[in-house]
This record gives sequence, C-alpha cells and structure tokens, in this order.
Amino acid sequence: MIEIRDASKNDTPWIATASESIGGPLIVTNSQLVDISDHPALVAVANAERVGFLVYRSLAPDIVEVIALKALHRRIGIGSALLNALPARVGADTGHRIELDTTNDSAGALAFYKQHGFSVVKHRRGAFAEVLALKGYAVDGPVIGCGGREITDVIRLRKILADIDVRGGSDRA
Ligand SMILES: CC(C)(COP(=O)(O)OP(=O)(O)OC[C@H]1O[C@@H](n2cnc3c(N)ncnc32)[C@H](O)[C@@H]1OP(=O)(O)O)[C@@H](O)C(=O)NCCC(=O)NCCS
Repeated sequence: MIEIRDASKNDTPWIATASESIGGPLIVTNSQLVDISDHPALVAVANAERVGFLVYRSLAPDIVEVIALKALHRRIGIGSALLNALPARVGADTGHRIELDTTNDSAGALAFYKQHGFSVVKHRRGAFAEVLALKGYAVDGPVIGCGGREITDVIRLRKILADIDVRGGSDRA
C-alpha cells in the first residue's frame, strides 16, 4: 500500500539526497535553475519508509509544473501514485494543465508520462547544453544517460486534466 502525503521540513534533506541520481537538488526546468528544496513536494510512503517524491510549483493559476519525480523502486505504482495525487493536492480542476521537462535519453520516463496522458508540447533538440550551462557545468564530450543514450534534447510534456484525473485518477495506485 502506497500512501502519499505532503512533504514536511523533515523530508527536505531526504528529498535532496534522493534527487541526486536525477541531477538534483539543483534542477533546470522551463529554462530556469531551481533548488527543489524551495518548492512544495509530495512524498510516497510504503511500510513506513519513504519510497518516492514529487516536487512541484505553480506556473500560473491553471498550470502546475512537476520539477522532479522519482520512484525508488520501479514499476510498482509509486510514480503513478504521486502523479495521480497531485491535482487534488494543488486544487487543480478539469482543464488545468500539468507540465514538465524530460530528456531524450529517458525512454522509460517518456513511456510513463505517455501512459499518464501527457503529450509533447516542445522537443528542443540540443537544449541539454543550456541545462548544463545553467548548472555551471563545463562538459567535454557527450553526456550519457542511464539507458546508454547521449542526453542532448529537452522535451516539454503537458497533460490537460480531465474529469477522471481530478477525481483522483484511474491507476491501480
Ligand atoms: C519515471 C518514473 C517516475 C516512473 O515511476 P514508476 O513508479 O516506476 O512507474 P509506475 O510503476 O507508476 O508505472 C506506471 C506505468 O508507466 C509505464 N512505465 C513506467 N516505467 C516504465 C518504463 N521504464 N518503461 C516503459 N513503461 C514504463 C508502464 O505502463 C507502467 O505500468 P506497468 O508497470 O503496469 O506496465 C521512475 O522510473 C523514475 O523515478 N524515474 C526517474 C529517474 C529516471 O528516469 N531515471 C532514468 C535514468 S536511471
């Protein structure tokens, strides 16, 4: 059983550490460098252990952005439980949008978001160089993602909430 709760100050160090494998705690999103510790988050808990987190911010009254999402154990519904909980937590209604950035190397993440009804709004080829520059990294040579593919592109995804999302989602979690 996966439970989702709002993160408290006590969760901040854990989220910062857990975010390291996805490039945190400083993350570039929507062409801005943000510190995930400055933003609200949801935490997934199973058997009294933290097993995932979702960091978000409001971009406009009807747009919420997912800054970071991570499941510590894959394919058991943690990511879905976090994403499905978000609309109710932020008071998002039908027609509201959820947006986020991902990269071209993350085939698994792209499949996950597509399964959740997201579609590509902008595929920015070569934009990962901007991410590295904003983070102050001078990289000599290609950056290879976990799946063995070179990270080059930033892909903006968007989902427009439908009635079923607002009522709490249809996923198993
Ligand atoms: C993307 C992420 C949040 C998904 O979370 P998750 O808890 O594993 O996903 P769920 O169990 O909720 O998956 C729901 C559905 O999404 C799809 N999905 C999720 N991960 C997938 C993958 N790797 N490949 C294909 N489809 C996937 C499937 O349809 C899945 O349903 P199923 O397992 O019944 O087939 C998780 O993989 C993650 O934390 N990623 C961040 C880190 C990352 O991307 N790292 C890559 C480099 S190491």
